[in-house]
Amino acid sequence: MHNDIVNPPLFSKDAAFDLLYPDHIKELSQMHWTPVNIAKEAGEFLAAPGARVLDIGSGVGKFCIVAGFLHPETTFCGIEQRRELFTFAEIAKEEVSLPNVSFIHGNLTELNFKDYDHFYFYNAFYENIEPGSRIDYSVRTSFQLYDYYSRFVFKMLDEKPAGTRLVTFHGTERQVPPSYQLVDNSYSSVLKMWLKK
Ligand SMILES: C[S@@+](CC[C@H](N)C(=O)[O-])C[C@H]1O[C@@H](n2cnc3c(N)ncnc32)[C@H](O)[C@@H]1O
Repeated sequence: MHNDIVNPPLFSKDAAFDLLYPDHIKELSQMHWTPVNIAKEAGEFLAAPGARVLDIGSGVGKFCIVAGFLHPETTFCGIEQRRELFTFAEIAKEEVSLPNVSFIHGNLTELNFKDYDHFYFYNAFYENIEPGSRIDYSVRTSFQLYDYYSRFVFKMLDEKPAGTRLVTFHGTERQVPPSYQLVDNSYSSVLKMWLKK
């Protein structure tokens, strides 16, 4: 099969994919959104027919859209606290037309993790402890929120059954419960694949 059919230009390069977004969102891509190659590798690990994957803090939806395109038999859902980013994720999803991808506008603490099987986590809370990495000023950030969100996700992940898969990108090991075993890593270990024992 011709490579463009399996992997059309949109899903080959970040510069091409980011054309789905307006300029001010594109400018945030390098620092805040998952690169296409990372999304492909993470999606490969998390996808399974009928499985429901959650992106914890989905931004403009890059991970879910790339992984969802390549794995139509898996459901990818993202939750995002910033309305503007959620709206751009929805617009991009419509553009690509992916029935297995959805986004929720809200705080991840409102979610029931029982509704999802596997998880993707791109260090979503970092801007709470590193002001220089703030996306914008539309939400409150603080050390307390970093702690609160990290503890919430830790507990939710710890309560999941054996066999749950998790991918962390630029995460810290302290955010992952010891019940998860590191099974693979790449990109100089910034991308890590975990399996719940
Ligand atoms: C580093 S970005 C990653 C975006 C996306 N996962 C990707 O890989 O392209 C982290 C996102 O998490 C969102 N976020 C942080 N804390 C959140 C919370 N408590 N509830 C929902 N979204 C949150 C931020 O607004 C930001 O858009």
